Amino acid sequence: MKHFLDIHKTDAAELRGMIDAAHAMKIARNGRPRGAPDDEMPLKGRMVALIFEKPSTRTRVSFDVGVRQMGGETMVLSGKEMQLGHGETIADTARVLSRYVDLIMIRTFEEATLLEMAEHATVPVINGLTNRTHPCQIMADVMTYEEHRGPIGGKKVVWCGDGNNVCASFLHAAGQFGFDFTFTGPEPLDPEEKFVEFARAKGSRITIQRDPFTAVEGADLVVTDTWVSMHDPESAKERRHNQLRPYQVNEQLMSRAKPDALFMHCLPAHRNDEATSAVMDGPHSVIFDEAENRLHAQKAIMRWCLGV
Ligand code: CP
Ligand code: NVA
Repeated sequence: MKHFLDIHKTDAAELRGMIDAAHAMKIARNGRPRGAPDDEMPLKGRMVALIFEKPSTRTRVSFDVGVRQMGGETMVLSGKEMQLGHGETIADTARVLSRYVDLIMIRTFEEATLLEMAEHATVPVINGLTNRTHPCQIMADVMTYEEHRGPIGGKKVVWCGDGNNVCASFLHAAGQFGFDFTFTGPEPLDPEEKFVEFARAKGSRITIQRDPFTAVEGADLVVTDTWVSMHDPESAKERRHNQLRPYQVNEQLMSRAKPDALFMHCLPAHRNDEATSAVMDGPHSVIFDEAENRLHAQKAIMRWCLGV
């Protein structure tokens, strides 16, 4: 069973194959009428369940559109409206859904929910974000970097702010795609050691640097994300803002990066908190390409899962 659960759990050569396939699918769509299905319809006759236990704009729309472009159909399910939200076990939900659909994408809170779904499903399961990781996002980010600047291997990526789920998947990608990764943020918000260890074991240079200006020096890519994630308690907001304000990505900070550095943010953003609008809308920013590439990257991931 080819589940897409995390970047570190997927073979590096297969990840590379997915990125290349995503580029090819994007190019093939260029110049074709908007809304037209792909020439090939590899998901024809297939049904995909998209389960959301947290809000989403990009993941929801890009998966839905991606499946339709490939000739398949989707069913978008809210965790709360399913029996899953009313006491049915994840294992039973997985077994039942597997009798109806060909692929399951789930966005949930606990990683254990995703893993249990994958363990009991007899169809592939895709991680659409958990509290710990967000692999589909980082596949789109690697694709976006490479379409603008060529191979990401050996480049310096700097993460500013909270060492959260998106940061964790970046660390996995550093190991699998062979780039260097610097984290700059306050110590209480450091990424989990396990993620850092994975990347280091794969030979990537991983640096923790408290001073954001030193960290960003010579960066090829500067990345940030919201200071308060969906799973963080609302009560953490004020403290987070105080801790993270020095790590805001603004023009002054970006000026320390390489002149041709890119800026990324997975979105949704809180403009002028983690990044200023001047940076988000400025010459380094590729945030909307990132959002678009969720579509292409996930199409490649779904084809890989289904072997079509
Ligand atoms: N980046 C991302 O996953 O966005 P959504 O929460 O809108 O899906
Ligand atoms: N870190 C954010 C990412 C949203 C796409 C969150 O988990 O809320």
